[in-house]
Amino acid sequence: MKEKVLVTGGTGYIGSHTIIYLIETGYDVICVDNGINSDKSVLNVVEKITGVRVPYFHIDLCDLERTESIFKEHSEIHGIIHFAALKSVSDSVSNPIIYFRNNLVSLINILELSVKYNVGAFIFSSSCTVYGDVTHSPVDEDTPLKETASPYGRTKQIGEQIVSDVLKQSNTKSILLRYFNPAGAHPSGLLGESPINSPQNLVPVITETAIGRRQKMIVYGTDYPTRDGSCIRDYIHVCDLARAHTKALNYIFEGKQDKPGDIFNIGIGNGLSVLEIIRAFEKVSGLKLNYEKGERRPGDIMAIFSDYKKAKEQLDWFPEYNVDDIMNTAWIWEQNRSSQIL
Ligand code: NAD
Ligand code: WQD
Repeated sequence: MKEKVLVTGGTGYIGSHTIIYLIETGYDVICVDNGINSDKSVLNVVEKITGVRVPYFHIDLCDLERTESIFKEHSEIHGIIHFAALKSVSDSVSNPIIYFRNNLVSLINILELSVKYNVGAFIFSSSCTVYGDVTHSPVDEDTPLKETASPYGRTKQIGEQIVSDVLKQSNTKSILLRYFNPAGAHPSGLLGESPINSPQNLVPVITETAIGRRQKMIVYGTDYPTRDGSCIRDYIHVCDLARAHTKALNYIFEGKQDKPGDIFNIGIGNGLSVLEIIRAFEKVSGLKLNYEKGERRPGDIMAIFSDYKKAKEQLDWFPEYNVDDIMNTAWIWEQNRSSQIL
């Protein structure tokens, strides 16, 4: 029998890539999303790549009754991967109530239903943002969490605690995955990041600038005490990240988890500066990027990258793509996407 997995936020960037890996690993997938930052047409692409039509529910997870209708229709849901959330750091500073309501109410509802319907496994999308303004990298899962700079970050810190408190008393086993900076696109060139809200993350900003959708881009700060003055991050390919979810589910379903909840960092394990990322893009694309050195962005931390040893040892997960693969797939995707939009 195939285990059935409900993917929330499944038409979003990371969710859609993960659905492909789940199907390829043999899971039976259903998807829920309210379309606030994605379009259900993504599932046509998933079908093109996998040959599988994924059942889709257009539901806001903040609506408990409608969310429960999924569980009534699909009596046996073995696992849930909970991606659904709003994710813009700056937007969360301007609209904290919207972020707290959306990210926390949706989480509470899906957890309540996980317990009620005896779901075996729950994977939560957490973020490196929970580490706050760290002074040392690499960070491992035992690195103490500091205050995070945004309401968005707080929804992840609080979210981790809610998952742990609620599921401790239940039959549902949980894993919290702390993603570092996801980037890149599916190697088919058919799927990548295509949010409804304008992307603010570095890699899509670079590709949108290169394609001409933005006139130029700004490097936020070149006076940090780093090797070239720009900030350092851990960029992880979205397909490596997607694979980490299937590994996490396998780990629970194969009975390997011996304590109620586990936390894993999912990153590439080393840091690259903003200017190094731009150079990697210029190398793979053969283009000169139109960028300017600008002021620091408020709330940015100087440097953070992961120690993913725990994921390697326990989940047998490790990154397979490097920074050139990230920039190459992101650039192919941008060109394909733009030719469809224009
Ligand atoms: P995304 O915006 O592409 O996907 C999130 C999806 O959730 C969207 O399709 C959106 O429509 C849906 N959604 C939001 N609120 C909903 C609700 N109330 N009900 C139903 N659907 C809802 O974002 P993503 O980059 O794929 O991120 C997925 C998860 O990973 C999020 O929880 C995010 O916070 C987390 N995360 C993302 C990053 C990143 O940089 N992309 C890094 C760390 C963690
Ligand atoms: C990366 C670097 C910018 C855009 C965010 C969230 C984090 C997690 C991942 C969800 C920084 C610089 C960027 C630009 C630039 N998301 N930059 N010019 O801030 O590390 O992390 O996404 O959980 O919580 O905070 O990612 O891609 O925005 O920035 O110079 O136009 O690129 O200053 O140093 P960040 P990012």
